[in-house]
Amino acid sequence: LRVAVVAGGYSDESVISLKSGELIYASLNAEKYDRTRVRILKEGWFAEIDGKKYPILKEDFSFIKEGEKYTFDVVFNTIHGTPGEDGYLQAYFELIGMPYTGCPFYQSALTFNKKDCIAALSKYGIPHAKSIYIQKDSDYVVEDIISHVGLPCFVKPNRSGSSLGISKVNKKEQFEDALIKAFHEDKEVLIESFLDGIEVSVGVLNYRGEIKVVGITEIVSDNEFFDYEAKYEGKSQEITPARIPDEVTKRVEEISKKAYTSLNMTGFSRSEYIIVNGEPHFIEMNTLPGFSPASIFPQQAAYSKIELSDLMDSEINLALN
Ligand code: DAL
Ligand code: MG
Repeated sequence: LRVAVVAGGYSDESVISLKSGELIYASLNAEKYDRTRVRILKEGWFAEIDGKKYPILKEDFSFIKEGEKYTFDVVFNTIHGTPGEDGYLQAYFELIGMPYTGCPFYQSALTFNKKDCIAALSKYGIPHAKSIYIQKDSDYVVEDIISHVGLPCFVKPNRSGSSLGISKVNKKEQFEDALIKAFHEDKEVLIESFLDGIEVSVGVLNYRGEIKVVGITEIVSDNEFFDYEAKYEGKSQEITPARIPDEVTKRVEEISKKAYTSLNMTGFSRSEYIIVNGEPHFIEMNTLPGFSPASIFPQQAAYSKIELSDLMDSEINLALN
């Protein structure tokens, strides 16, 4: 089976995607799969073989090497952020009839939009923080926002990942700078109440036909929140399983499976919750959870004793069926 392991992307998460792509490439059983690294970067789309670059032909996602045309049977998508996690590539692969791993374009676009994902899940009774959404040229009054969400609050790009552009605002005076930082990543911003509780990251996937919670990881950040440095530069403890009572574990499993199935997700996902008084409050869902060596999902797979090569087989089977 010819597999394109697609990594890169156009956002600041590109460097993380290249790492995720490498771990996924290495985890794909070389006896079963003929693997090719494909980069989708701002500077172009190309297959990378032995340090050489071969441009991807967009009409059928093929490339030419030494006069011979190479095509793929399936794409293993490992792009975080745009255009791999927000539905654009998924829609393109649909249009050209190329099977791809992960969830379809609609679910990708919906879940990548934090505001819309929260709104959709709130219809299914899943709790979440209070929030206000603004666009780049919206009129807003800082005092009104703060009186609605309270302090501290989080200011976030509505569509981004790896905590890029996120600030925790403790004082009114920090608000404008936080907004500038968030608008640097996206034209839409979400301002959320701070929830004082236990942060958990929950991997959920369809594994061999069963919706499975692969792990509930407790996040204890050395920084003020689980920011980029805490995520990738070791400034946090990630504890699997989370140190929570059994009944709270059951509740987290119940809510996270409900979120997954309500949105009709496919393949792996990882969602963040803050547990307040035993009740998980939804923060966001990632349809392309990080697979860098520092990322949480590989740790959860190890905890559940799922071999990464089996996990990749399962993703490819879902893509082909
Ligand atoms: N957006 C990063 C890669 C994650 O969710 O792990
Ligand atoms: Mg995210």
